[in-house]
Amino acid sequence: MMLDLERPPSAIPTTGASLPTRLRRLRRTPSLRALVRETRLHPAMLVAPLFVRPGVGVREPIASMPGQARLSADLAADEAARLAELGVGGVILFGLPETKDALGSGASDDAGMVQDAFRRIRALELPLVTIADTCLCEYTDHGHCGPLAADGSVDNDAALVRLAEVAVSQARSGADIVAPSAMIDGQVGAIRTALDAADFEGTPIMAYASKHASAFYGPFREAADSAPAFGDRRGYQMDPANGREAVREMTLDVAEGADILLVKPALPGLDLIAAARARFDVPIAAYQVSGEYAMLAAAAERGWLNGRRAMTEAVTAIVRAGAGIVITYAAADIAMWLRDER
Ligand code: PBG
Repeated sequence: MMLDLERPPSAIPTTGASLPTRLRRLRRTPSLRALVRETRLHPAMLVAPLFVRPGVGVREPIASMPGQARLSADLAADEAARLAELGVGGVILFGLPETKDALGSGASDDAGMVQDAFRRIRALELPLVTIADTCLCEYTDHGHCGPLAADGSVDNDAALVRLAEVAVSQARSGADIVAPSAMIDGQVGAIRTALDAADFEGTPIMAYASKHASAFYGPFREAADSAPAFGDRRGYQMDPANGREAVREMTLDVAEGADILLVKPALPGLDLIAAARARFDVPIAAYQVSGEYAMLAAAAERGWLNGRRAMTEAVTAIVRAGAGIVITYAAADIAMWLRDER
């Protein structure tokens, strides 16, 4: 039977054999809703970002990200243990070095704080995946994601050499996965080649494949003190207006050997998460970034929305769109909420 969209509502029969479907039937009780729920969150699909700073026993709250803190490596390991206990699937580590230079040398220092944290976490043998954010912007004095060329732009091929060194150092210290986030052309291939040459054939690459030059990274840059000293990242991160280009980025990253594709930011990129899920048969991850978290946390603090419900709804939407892995600053909270829902 053809749907007659022209028929006025008054003509819809309310009794008899041709009753219209009433979708409310399956929404009547909590048990019915649970039975037909299409998307469920599980702590194992969540990844918590951790900011690692120098020192011992230091915990420094981040003002723009309520509930988040910069942690020394020892406390980062404690936090990883707490997350594993909650069943959270993984942690992704970012380094906040005291000293920076033009090449971002600290990022590939085997004695660096992120490397130290990976070794400490590995020693705990936790049932959780450790991921390294592979980038240079937190370690360069100019705040860009690679060394600069004479004209002040990021030197693509010099960046590839550095990123490969960083990834190998991270793998050596115990990172289970490396996640290049610099949006330097060829970074996945360069890192794969370097990892293989260093006997890390078994280390997967989670590629930040579709990464927009987004305003939503603001609180992260404050937390990591990684805002560019001049200019911006639009010369290498993607224009948020572009979706077809995002698919080209993903296609290239798969061809270069990406094991997991990541879309970032998440909520402003739901269309890209869905496109990635439809086109590529690799796991799809999404990063609910600092600004996405801060918006909800700030509104919740003011009593403008219910933080728990809004955060759960946002992360559920990201999963509904097609992400099987979600990096979120709310990972521990969500894991706890899921626990008391049982
Ligand atoms: C490093 C990196 C950034 C984020 C993840 N990896 C910063 C940036 O690109 O400026 C942002 C994460 C967030 O906002 O939560 N390149």
